[in-house]
Amino acid sequence: MADIGTDHGSLPLWCLENEVVPYAVLSDVNEGPLERARQRMDSSFVAEDRYNLRLGSGLSVLKPGEAQTVVLAGMGGELIASILDEDPDVAETVQRFVFQPRTRAGHLRSWLWEHGWRICAERLAKERGRLCQIFAAEKGPQEPYEYPDIPEGNDPLMIEFLDKKIVNIKLISDNLLHSKNAGDLKKAEALQRKVSALEQRRDGLWKSRHS
Ligand SMILES: C[S@@+](CC[C@H](N)C(=O)[O-])C[C@H]1O[C@@H](n2cnc3c(N)ncnc32)[C@H](O)[C@@H]1O
Repeated sequence: MADIGTDHGSLPLWCLENEVVPYAVLSDVNEGPLERARQRMDSSFVAEDRYNLRLGSGLSVLKPGEAQTVVLAGMGGELIASILDEDPDVAETVQRFVFQPRTRAGHLRSWLWEHGWRICAERLAKERGRLCQIFAAEKGPQEPYEYPDIPEGNDPLMIEFLDKKIVNIKLISDNLLHSKNAGDLKKAEALQRKVSALEQRRDGLWKSRHS
C-alpha cells in the first residue's frame, strides 16, 4: 500500500502491525509530517525493510504499478482529485484507491466517474463526533449517484448521516428562500427536492431496520 499525505503515519503503521499489508510507502509533501511518521515507524516493532518514507507531492513519489492500494485520507475532495489528475500514469496502474475526503466528497465521486472509476465500497466513520465518508474505487464504469455528495448503502451510521445532511440542506434552502433573486429561489426548490429524497431514503432505512 501507499499512504499519500500520511502525516502521523497511523494508518500504514496499523496495517503493517496487523499484517493487513506486507509493505507500505508513507509519503507527505511536507517535511514536518514525514518526520513525525518516521519517528513513529522507527519506534515501532515493524521491520525496517517493510516500509519506505518519501517526501513529495501526491502520486509523484510512486512508480507506475508500484502500489496495489493507494490511500488518500484527511484531505479535501478537490485536492484529492487534483492529485489524481497530476499523475495519470501512476493513477491508472493502481488497483484500488481508498479515499477519506474531509470536504467535497461529491466533487471527488464525480471526478472518479468521469475518469472511469467506480465506487466499490462505502463506509461511514465517526471521529470526535464528526461523521467521515470513506470509500474505495476500482477501475470500471458506474452510473453516477443522483446526489454525488451522499454515500450509497446501508451503513449503520447512514440514518445519522442523512439526518445531519437534511438539517444542513434545510438551513441553506431556508436562507435562499428569503432571497428575491430568481436564481436563488430555483436553487432553494432543487434543495427542497433533495431534502424530500433524503427524507424518503432515511425513512426507508429506518423501516427496514425496525420491521
Ligand atoms: C490532515 S492530514 C491527514 C493525515 C492522515 N492521512 C489522516 O487521514 O489522518 C493531511 C496531510 O496531507 C499532506 N498533504 C497535503 N497535500 C499533499 C500532497 N499534494 N501530497 C502529499 N501530501 C499532501 C499534509 O502535509 C498533511 O500531512
